Amino acid sequence: MPIIRKKLIAGNWKMNKSAGDGAALAKELLEAIGRETAVDVVLCPPFTALESVGHALEGQALKLGAQNMHPERNGAFTGEISAEMLRTLYVSHVILGHSERRQFFGDTDAFVNQKVLAALAHELRPILCVGETLAERESGATLTVVQRQLEAGLSGVKAEQITTVIVAYEPVWAIGTGKVATTEQAQEVHAFIRELLGQLFGAALAQKVRILYGGSMKPANAPELLAQKDIDGGLIGGASLEARSFIELVKAALAAV
Ligand code: PGA
Repeated sequence: MPIIRKKLIAGNWKMNKSAGDGAALAKELLEAIGRETAVDVVLCPPFTALESVGHALEGQALKLGAQNMHPERNGAFTGEISAEMLRTLYVSHVILGHSERRQFFGDTDAFVNQKVLAALAHELRPILCVGETLAERESGATLTVVQRQLEAGLSGVKAEQITTVIVAYEPVWAIGTGKVATTEQAQEVHAFIRELLGQLFGAALAQKVRILYGGSMKPANAPELLAQKDIDGGLIGGASLEARSFIELVKAALAAV
């Protein structure tokens, strides 16, 4: 029996879009792809636009995601947001361990793991990001780094929770650089991630986990990437900021179903 993993396209808006601009983009997207249910679509605006975008998406198939969260429920953590707070805004997904968080804000594997566990405890679906830097790739450490980030990030996750987790492979050298990984490079790491998930949680469950590719994914390169056996969607930065390119990416995923 073939394994069906529903493709997923997530837009990571990063530190872009005001509440008003975000809601306007969400409405434009809804007009074009609001009825598509064959592909999952998640919009991840900055915290300040979660409420307005969530309002625009109310009752629609498109889902709302955050870009980060703190593992504690509440307390003296100036500038932070908890899973519970995200839940009150109808957030269903949360990007965790993005390389920009690891690089600029000191997120370690252990901290990312705490966030993953807290997200799951609050019924948020983590989009756990892993990926090597250019120096790591050039020194032949890609798979070692990805394995460390994945095993540490998923430590303590139970088998019955793993299909709720979404993994995103994002080679750091391909993010926002216009340099996309070749389909072979991407598929190799995706297959490796699935194999590792199989060792950790069993092969049957590993077949159900979605593994997204991220890093300069665009309408021009998406069809080839999305056709790969273990690439189940995309985590899109730059190309998610404009309706036209994001809609084309969702259509590419629909065509790849
Ligand atoms: P990019 O970003 O599509 O602009 O390369 C992807 C990401 O950082 O999630």
